[in-house]
Amino acid sequence: SADAVGRAADLLRRARRVVVFTGAGMSAESGVPTFRDALTGLWQRYDAQTLATPAAFHADPDLVWGWYEWRRAAVRRARPNPGHLAVATIEARVPDSVVITQNVDDLHERAGSPAPLHLHGSLFAPRCASCARSAPEPDGPPEEPADGRRTPPPRCAGCGAAVRPGVVWFGEALPGQALEAAVEAAASCDLLLTVGTSGLVYPAAEIPQVASRFGAVVVQVNPRETPLDAVAEVNLRGPAARLLPALVDATWDGTGPQ
Ligand code: APR
Repeated sequence: SADAVGRAADLLRRARRVVVFTGAGMSAESGVPTFRDALTGLWQRYDAQTLATPAAFHADPDLVWGWYEWRRAAVRRARPNPGHLAVATIEARVPDSVVITQNVDDLHERAGSPAPLHLHGSLFAPRCASCARSAPEPDGPPEEPADGRRTPPPRCAGCGAAVRPGVVWFGEALPGQALEAAVEAAASCDLLLTVGTSGLVYPAAEIPQVASRFGAVVVQVNPRETPLDAVAEVNLRGPAARLLPALVDATWDGTGPQ
């Protein structure tokens, strides 16, 4: 509602150190499916355990690699939405700001965010499953792999082992440097804007709690209620692609460099 956007704008205008924490809902309006939305979420159509675990890749690398290639192709077809652009505007307007994302797409980067922290890795950073040497991003599958088509993974140029997606699977540790930087940013910010995450998957879901525990104000953008309602000072109930531009306009009412 307009007054909630107004209250959020007052908080954002006064903030000196801002963290924007994003989840799959950030990319929903770019046509990239979320994980847990009823019916449309990926985990409603697939069992996460049969696709997003090291054991799944070991058991059937072609199936898992093919699925992530299908997701990568979908992201390459997608475009950043006005929500991603609004996040890049916030970063441009607030000198001490950082984007922390659970998303493995590159839509924040393509919208102009200089260096989002990827807590769950990226579809665009494949690496060797054995020696961890980074592998070149396949230059786009010849024909976009159909959803669910098995595709043999490339082989590592160094040791010949299979290349794996550069994403964090269930049961795997998050990239230490990204997580450390994210906790540090959350603990020292004065406003954390959480957008499009169900706040269910740890340790990423700790980030808004850390911010709140260290005295930051939390603002949430999500059409639905989440566990983060408990720490959110302001809840903007609706889609990111509409509410984030509205928040940016209300904060800086279109003044200065757009
Ligand atoms: N704008 C904002 N939020 C939205 C929109 C939208 N247009 N559409 C849906 N949402 C919200 C949903 O209400 C939900 O709360 O986005 C959230 C998506 O939640 P999930 O699908 O659980 O995605 P996320 O929170 O990012 O999942 C965290 O779980 O599966 C793992 O590694 C995966 O990074 C992922 C992690």
